[in-house]
Amino acid sequence: KRIVILISGRGSNMQAVVQANIAQAKVVAVISNRADAAGLQWAAQRGLATEAICHQDYAGREAFDTALMARIDAYQPDLVLLAGFMRILTPEFCEHYAGRLINIHPSLLPAFPGLHTHQRALDSGCRVAGCTIHFVTAQLDCGPIIAQGVVPVVNGDTVDTLAQRVLRVEHELLPQVVADFVADNLVVEGNRVNNLSIVNEDGSVCLKN
Ligand code: GRF
Repeated sequence: KRIVILISGRGSNMQAVVQANIAQAKVVAVISNRADAAGLQWAAQRGLATEAICHQDYAGREAFDTALMARIDAYQPDLVLLAGFMRILTPEFCEHYAGRLINIHPSLLPAFPGLHTHQRALDSGCRVAGCTIHFVTAQLDCGPIIAQGVVPVVNGDTVDTLAQRVLRVEHELLPQVVADFVADNLVVEGNRVNNLSIVNEDGSVCLKN
C-alpha cells in the first residue's frame, strides 16, 4: 500500500512510521506546507520523495487544498497520514480522502480537540493524558477513533515533560495503526472502528478499538 505523509514541522511521527519498515507499506512521499519543516530534510536524506507546498502562496484555504490534493493524488496513495500537519482541511479535502485519511492528535479525544492540548490537560487537572489516532472527517478532530495511548500526568509536569511522555506513545502507536490499516484490519461502523487484528475480545490490555 502507498502512503503519503503530510507534516508541518519536526516530523518525528513520520520518522517513526518510516523507520518501522511496515510490511506491505511504502511511504511514497512526504509533503509539508512549510518549506523549512525539519522533517522534510530528514525524509529527503533517506531518499524519500519530498515536496513543500506553501499555504501562503495560495489565495485561500480552498485554493491551497485543491493544489495539495493534486500533488497528493499524483502519488496515488492508499493512505494519507496527517502527522503533525497543522492546517485545517476543507470538507472537500476530507471527503475526497474519506476512509483513507488518518490523523494523530495529542489528546484523549473527545477531550481537547484543537491546539494547546497539553496545557489544557494540565489546566484541567487531568490525571491521565495521551494521544488519539482517528479517521479524519470534515469536523475537526472528530472522526472515528482507531486507537488511543494513555500516559499518567505526574506532579510537577510541564507542557514539555507531558508532551514528551505522550510523544513516546505516539511513536509506538502510529506505526501499529498504519500496519493495521494496510492489512485491512480496520473496519469502520458508524463512528466506531473495529480492529480485526485484536484477538483478545475481552480487550483486557489492548487500548485499540
Ligand atoms: C504531535 O504531537 C502530533 O500528535 C501533533 O503534532 C505533533 C507533531 O510532532 N498533531 P512531530 O512533527 O510528529 O514530531
